[in-house]
Amino acid sequence: MTAPEAGRICLVAGASRGIGAAVALALSREGHRVALLGRDGATLDEVGAGLPGPSLTVPADVTDADAIEAAFSRIEREWGPVEVLVCNAGAGTAAAIVDTSDDDWARMLELNLTAPFRLMRRALPSMTGSGWGRIVVIASVVAKRGEAQVAAYTASKHGVLGLVRAAAAELARSGVTVNAVCPGYVDTPMTDATIEAIAARSGRGTDDARATLARRQPIGRLIEPDEVADAVRFCLANAAVTGQGINVDGGSVQS
Ligand SMILES: NC(=O)c1ccc[n+]([C@@H]2O[C@H](COP(=O)([O-])OP(=O)(O)OC[C@H]3O[C@@H](n4cnc5c(N)ncnc54)[C@H](OP(=O)(O)O)[C@@H]3O)[C@@H](O)[C@H]2O)c1
Repeated sequence: MTAPEAGRICLVAGASRGIGAAVALALSREGHRVALLGRDGATLDEVGAGLPGPSLTVPADVTDADAIEAAFSRIEREWGPVEVLVCNAGAGTAAAIVDTSDDDWARMLELNLTAPFRLMRRALPSMTGSGWGRIVVIASVVAKRGEAQVAAYTASKHGVLGLVRAAAAELARSGVTVNAVCPGYVDTPMTDATIEAIAARSGRGTDDARATLARRQPIGRLIEPDEVADAVRFCLANAAVTGQGINVDGGSVQS
C-alpha cells in the first residue's frame, strides 16, 4: 500500500462537521490540498482554518446541479482538476414506510444517491484523462442490510453502493478506483440529532439513548469520525481495492 503523492487536489462534499471534517483533516495532514464543500461557507472557513495545509471553501448545495458545476469550475481555476472526490454530504430521515411522504422519499434519493452520481460524473473525465483518480462515497451499514423505520435512507444508501460497484466495474482499467465506506453509528452531530429524537420519542434521557446506539455496534461504542477517515485514507492508498463497501461498524455487518 502506497500513500498517494502529496499535493493531490481533493474535494470533500459535506466537510463542515462530523465525518467530512475528519476526512478533510486526515487528507490535509497527508499533504493534500482540500476543497471544502457544504451549504454554509462560514463553517467551512472554520474547518479550513484548522487544517495544516491549503484549503478552499466552495459553498454549494449538492442537490443543486448548477452550484456543483460552479464549485468544480472554481477548484479547476484555483488549483486544477479534482483528483480525489469524497462524497460524504448526506442526511437521514426516520419514519415507518406508511408514514414516509413522497417528498421525504425524493429528498433522500436526491441527497444520498443522485448527488454522488452527479459529483462522480463531473469528476470522472479529468481523472480518466490523467489515468489516476480516487472516489470514495460515505454510505452506511444500511447500504448492506435493512433496518426498520428508515426505508428511504436505507434505499438511498443501497442505491449509492450499487452506483459505486457499477462505477468500479466500468473504470477498472482506467486508474480510477471507486469505493464506499459503510459506517455504523458514528459520534457526529447527525447521531446527536438521532439521539435527541430517540430521547424525545421514548421519554428516556439522552445518555440512555446514546448508550442504546452504542450497543448497536458489537464493539459496544460509537464509531469515531477519525476511524471512518482512516478507511478513506486506505481507499486512496490501495490501487487494488475498488468496488468495495468497507464496513467501519464495530462488527455489526460481517461480509
Ligand atoms: N453519523 C452516522 O452515524 C453515520 C452512519 C453511517 C453513515 N453516515 C453518513 O456519513 C455522512 C456524513 O454523516 P455525519 O454523521 O458526518 O453527518 P453530519 O454531522 O450531519 O454532517 C453532514 C455534512 O453534510 C453536509 N450536507 C448536508 N446536506 C448537504 C447538502 N444538501 N449540500 C451540501 N452539503 C450538505 C453538512 O453541511 P451543511 O449542513 O452545512 O450543508 C455537513 O457538512 C452522511 O452521508 C451520512 O449518511 C453517517
